Amino acid sequence: MNAAVTSPTRGLALRGDLLDFGASPGWAQLETPALRFRPDHWLLIGADGRIVGSQAAAPDPAEYRLEDHSGRLILPGFVDTHVHCPQLDVIGSYGTELLDWLNTYTFPAECRYADPLVARAGAERFLDALLAHGTTTAVVFPTVHKVSVEALFSAAQQRGMRLLTGKVLMDRHAPDGLRDDVAGAERDCIDLIERWHGVDRLSYAVTVRFAPTSTPEQLAMAGSLCKADASLYMQTHVAENRSECAWVASLFPTARSYLDVYAREGLLHPRAVLAHGIWLDDADRRVLKETGAQVAFCPSSNLFLGSGLFDWPAAQAAGYGVSVASDVGGGTSLSIQRNLQDGYKVQALAGHRLSAWVGLHAATRGAAEALGLADEIGSFDPGTLADVCVWDWARGAVAEQRHAVARELHEKVFAWMTLSDERNLVACYVAGKPHTTGPQAGARNDNHGP
Ligand code: GUN
Ligand code: ZN
Repeated sequence: MNAAVTSPTRGLALRGDLLDFGASPGWAQLETPALRFRPDHWLLIGADGRIVGSQAAAPDPAEYRLEDHSGRLILPGFVDTHVHCPQLDVIGSYGTELLDWLNTYTFPAECRYADPLVARAGAERFLDALLAHGTTTAVVFPTVHKVSVEALFSAAQQRGMRLLTGKVLMDRHAPDGLRDDVAGAERDCIDLIERWHGVDRLSYAVTVRFAPTSTPEQLAMAGSLCKADASLYMQTHVAENRSECAWVASLFPTARSYLDVYAREGLLHPRAVLAHGIWLDDADRRVLKETGAQVAFCPSSNLFLGSGLFDWPAAQAAGYGVSVASDVGGGTSLSIQRNLQDGYKVQALAGHRLSAWVGLHAATRGAAEALGLADEIGSFDPGTLADVCVWDWARGAVAEQRHAVARELHEKVFAWMTLSDERNLVACYVAGKPHTTGPQAGARNDNHGP
């Protein structure tokens, strides 16, 4: 037997067109030194699952198992900074805006996650679906039930995934079976933090659903958890929908703004991820910049629920972090490309242009930096973990022709971002290991669709 083939110390080398970012690209710059495009290179991954580097020449097969994906695009795995596990069951539900949508579809679906079997099966289906869409890291809402958090952490651990999640806090304005109370919720959070936070690639996020479903006492409890441990994340929703904003103003009459409800409880900090942030003002934007908190832009959800148009250039000018997120099931696809396609259209409606560089950076290195995880994920920097996806540049006659006639790099990548989706995914590696349960898993994708 060939010792080189079986050696446990042999790494993996992937050949293809490598694209990642070394820094943040400027808003409208189509040529930028932030971009690192290495056509027809080998990406070297050590036996420990970490990126070693890249080179044009094929490496020694005694040291690396060679996988030839020449003519394909290789990107860091995507980071989805806001998505709801139990809402796969209500994706694509007809006819409502946010508050009715929550009551009609979402809360009933979340009630079912009290059952550990439902929670476990749902977590596994959800994480496999993320990986089958090229998303290797996610910031996830489970439900109010402790078992739903356990199920997600444990399924992510089995898959070796980077995951940030935490028990949803809701002690009012939610149906029976979906409400907790301050003391019980605090106990659950502390148990979960002790059991999971910092274990393998898992982090705990203090998860306030949104201001209307927590009493001021519960918000204060969430704030004290964050103050007690600066390594905890915080996730919530803010300023998504006009009726929601009016409701928050009536529930918290002394707050200066919706964002201020969170700010005054100490919930805004560099590890805070706030979904939407459509209806913010300049004072709010300054607070986000000062506290280091960031916004997850959820374009497909914002269009589907008719919530509004996020002002990305205003965020850029204010200097706070923006990442891209699917917000499934308000959003209609886990595909980050589909969300970037919607993101481009949202920005276009407001007279702005989202370049492929800004979009892809926000879904990779930009999100990793905003989460303080750039030394682990988001790029091909040596030493980071090899969460890597291989994509077909084009699938089907229309995209193939568009790809063939594209002249320069931004044109090619923008056409890819605009015309591709999860069906272009050829292979997905988590810390250097292929993930094999997705529909495209590992196979050379010669099946050109319609
Ligand atoms: N605000 C509070 N809960 C939710 C939710 O589940 N989805 C969205 N899009 N907004 C919310
Ligand atoms: Zn959401």
